Amino acid sequence: MRLALLGCGTVGSEVVRLLHEQAADLAARIGAPLEIAGIAVRRLGRDRGDLPVDPTLFTTDALGLIKRDDVDVVVEVVGGIEPARGWLVEALRAGKSVVTANKALLAEDGAALHDAAAEGGGDLYYEASVAGAIPLLRPLRESLHGDRINRVTGIVNGTTNFILSAMDATGAGFAEALEEATELGYAEADPTADVEGFDAAAKAAILASLAFHTRVGAADVHREGITEVTAADVASAKAMGCTIKLLCIAARGADAAGRETVSVRVHPAMIPLGHPLASVGDAFNAVFVEAQAAGPLMFYGRGAGGAPTASAVLGDVVAVSRNRLAGVRSASESAYADLPVRPMGEALTRYHISLDVADRPGVLAAVAGVFARHDVSIATVRQGPAGGGAAGRGEDADLVIVTHVAPDAALAATVRELRGLDIVRSVASVLRVEGGL
Ligand code: NDP
Ligand code: HSE
Repeated sequence: MRLALLGCGTVGSEVVRLLHEQAADLAARIGAPLEIAGIAVRRLGRDRGDLPVDPTLFTTDALGLIKRDDVDVVVEVVGGIEPARGWLVEALRAGKSVVTANKALLAEDGAALHDAAAEGGGDLYYEASVAGAIPLLRPLRESLHGDRINRVTGIVNGTTNFILSAMDATGAGFAEALEEATELGYAEADPTADVEGFDAAAKAAILASLAFHTRVGAADVHREGITEVTAADVASAKAMGCTIKLLCIAARGADAAGRETVSVRVHPAMIPLGHPLASVGDAFNAVFVEAQAAGPLMFYGRGAGGAPTASAVLGDVVAVSRNRLAGVRSASESAYADLPVRPMGEALTRYHISLDVADRPGVLAAVAGVFARHDVSIATVRQGPAGGGAAGRGEDADLVIVTHVAPDAALAATVRELRGLDIVRSVASVLRVEGGL
């Protein structure tokens, strides 16, 4: 089996290392040796340390490498939309098998890749694209294919989980925690894709597509990052016995006419400390799958890093290589259900709202009236003197309201109206709540 490796950075270099260290075992598992036919990179002169590979294999001509007749499998660990899309479509149409870690491309235009794979007859595997080392996509696309998945809830971005965990542990603000994540090498020089939720949204799209047999793209995913999460939000969550996580949530639902739909969203949310995802700290990932017959399943492990991600890439390389030797391909994309994706406004969520209000008669009734007007039911109300403590500041009160489940649009409209009330001095914190309180 001859591999074309596209990219030799954080992940690619570990793929090379593992291919070298485990050559004999991999050959035994596949039934043929794996050889690197070439490695496409951007900079030929880059110092690649003690990488155990013949330096003459490096090239800047990725397309030329892909087109070579002696290449069976193309492994893409470059990232980004173009030129990766063009390369992989070319490889797949030519009947080669492709292994990729490129979640951004799969979420942006997975259809182009799946269609090209169907045309060429090769395999398209992408286990490393979501949650790094964690075996997750294979269970969704194979092991659970006899079941019906109702909901997938996950922490799928290591950088933001590290930041939120640090904020929770030390009381630090977002900027301070981001600085620590950058110093430790978790956050990239430009952390936008992570902290604004783009990376998690791409992964959510991939998970939802597999879980619900429906093509879901990045544009279908409601996305909010963690840049607005404050130390006060974290403190509010703690006071409720909760922690804040950036969650990806993909769930089945129904529209007003009772037709089945899906909703896919990424946003920070409070979860109770007893929730299985609450104890997932540091840069770890975890995904909680709820299936009809199997019940709850939890997948946990390292979601990023060169070696963990290379492990998932190599697993795919073994699978597609064995298929090629056997002259078969795995089942193609399953998108038969084609369920409509509901807009965020229709998704059913719960809010935790912390208000600083005037402490005088009728205020609670006025606030409750706003919720009633938007048909939002209140689950719990807690009031204390503003600023905490027994005495507080005297004239104001802190009001913490947790709602029952309601359409997100109704909850957002409630908050908008609350912000406009004279008696509401400020809306200190608004967070969605997941996992029951
Ligand atoms: P890096 O930036 O570390 O490496 C990218 C590699 O691609 C480099 O070797 C670079 O060459 C090469 N490259 C860039 N542009 C071109 C080009 N135009 N032609 C040829 N080669 C090019 O990225 P990572 O290894 O971190 O990520 C790779 C992929 O894996 C991405 O899709 C990422 O989302 C995904 N992924 C990464 C994870 C991680 O923890 N890092 C986890 C899960 C998925 P050169 O070496 O010369 O600069
Ligand atoms: N930037 C990503 C993260 C890498 O922090 O999880 C893994 O996809």
